[in-house]
Amino acid sequence: MSDWQKTNWRNKPRVQMPDYLDQDALHSVEAQLGKYPPLVFAGEARRLKSQLGAAGRGEAFLLQGGDCAESFEQFSADGIRDTFKVMLQMAMVLTYGAKVPVVKVGRMAGQFAKPRSAPTETIDGVELPSYRGDIINELAFTSDARIPDPKKMLQAYTQAAATLNLIRAFSTGGYADVHQVHAWTLGFTEGEKAEAYRDMANRITDTLDFMKAAGVTKDTAHTLQTVEFYTSHEGLLLEYEEALTRLDSTSGKWLAGSGHMIWIGDRTRQPDGAHVEFCSGVLNPIGLKCGPTTTAEDLKVLMQKLNPENEEGKLTLIARFGAGKAGEHLPRLVQAVKEEGAKVTWVCDPMHGNTIKSATGYKTRPFDSVLREVRDFFGVHQAEGTIPGGVHFEMTGQDVTECTGGVRDVTEENLSDRYHTACDPRLNADQSLELAFLVAEELSRLRTPGESRAAI
Ligand code: PEP
Ligand code: CO
Repeated sequence: MSDWQKTNWRNKPRVQMPDYLDQDALHSVEAQLGKYPPLVFAGEARRLKSQLGAAGRGEAFLLQGGDCAESFEQFSADGIRDTFKVMLQMAMVLTYGAKVPVVKVGRMAGQFAKPRSAPTETIDGVELPSYRGDIINELAFTSDARIPDPKKMLQAYTQAAATLNLIRAFSTGGYADVHQVHAWTLGFTEGEKAEAYRDMANRITDTLDFMKAAGVTKDTAHTLQTVEFYTSHEGLLLEYEEALTRLDSTSGKWLAGSGHMIWIGDRTRQPDGAHVEFCSGVLNPIGLKCGPTTTAEDLKVLMQKLNPENEEGKLTLIARFGAGKAGEHLPRLVQAVKEEGAKVTWVCDPMHGNTIKSATGYKTRPFDSVLREVRDFFGVHQAEGTIPGGVHFEMTGQDVTECTGGVRDVTEENLSDRYHTACDPRLNADQSLELAFLVAEELSRLRTPGESRAAI
């Protein structure tokens, strides 16, 4: 849009953003960030857009995952490596089920700002402003810690740059060597499911043996050694996003330089609000969370604003309704997309509609509800003749105990053992990989030999 300016969002109603008390400090941080290099480049964002377009057509499948909120305190090379590695393992398993390339996008290198369900939090009669992510304030329950501090944007930028640097290095390092597929299933020792995973691992090994026999080896197949890995986060803190927005001299369009893909959360998707305004003008692929309160009318307006040229891969609709609720909400939105002839990529976030409070007081998500929502999502798309284009998970490569269930059953009593998330509960490495096997099973069920997924 020619009259779009990166500052236009400032004239629109904003929600879920901090009111900085020290405006001088804010302006000085914005000026500094404005001079820093962008973290990603326009060509990369365009490439991701084209791959997301393929996912929308059923010719690729999106795996988007990572922390609910990245943390300054827990920032470590091992943490990044482990999440990266589990995502590559999951991608390998999903590729086997989907029989199409898996597009890998981390909730990483910028996923710092959090929308909250309430502006304040009360503990033992003390009420303080809510924690809004490390880029804004601190988790500690003291009034000082909860004051929004603009300088935290500089630390977030530095951490994002270092994270991306490591990811770029790992991406060429053969990290999740597919020949290790059997080792990945070793943790799953019991039960019927473990048997099914080993079966799939056997079939993957057979395929590799066949490829080797046919002369395709690690040395000749460059694609087995390097991966493309993209970054994404919720574009919530618009001062940060604006300061990293750059003009792409090749196309004359604006790039949000903070990450390859940014998304709009379920709480900030007001059609006339600041977040939609900002996202409507950048060339990056945009995600839009769709929840139980998303109406068909709003979705039509949003699709028009966020993807006026109806470009493939530009807009990813991330459905997050809760287990058992996709049947009630998704069909009206799928219908709206059909009526508009809109090109979108449908993705399932089975995390955010399934958060419950455990008897032990921890926020958690039952593994079975997560799986059930993915199955509901696939079911609705099958019934509607549309394409399920991917999945979006909150997960980590660490052995945390935040979500209940899975083959190596995490119980409500176990939650306190290793509950480290700064925000929402994440699937641990085993649960993530197990889910990938189960989703792969669903995907291979959707495909029958000789037919493309689009035709089912
Ligand atoms: C999130 O993805 O962390 C999030 C807050 O999601 P939603 O906007 O869908 O609630
Ligand atoms: Co979350």
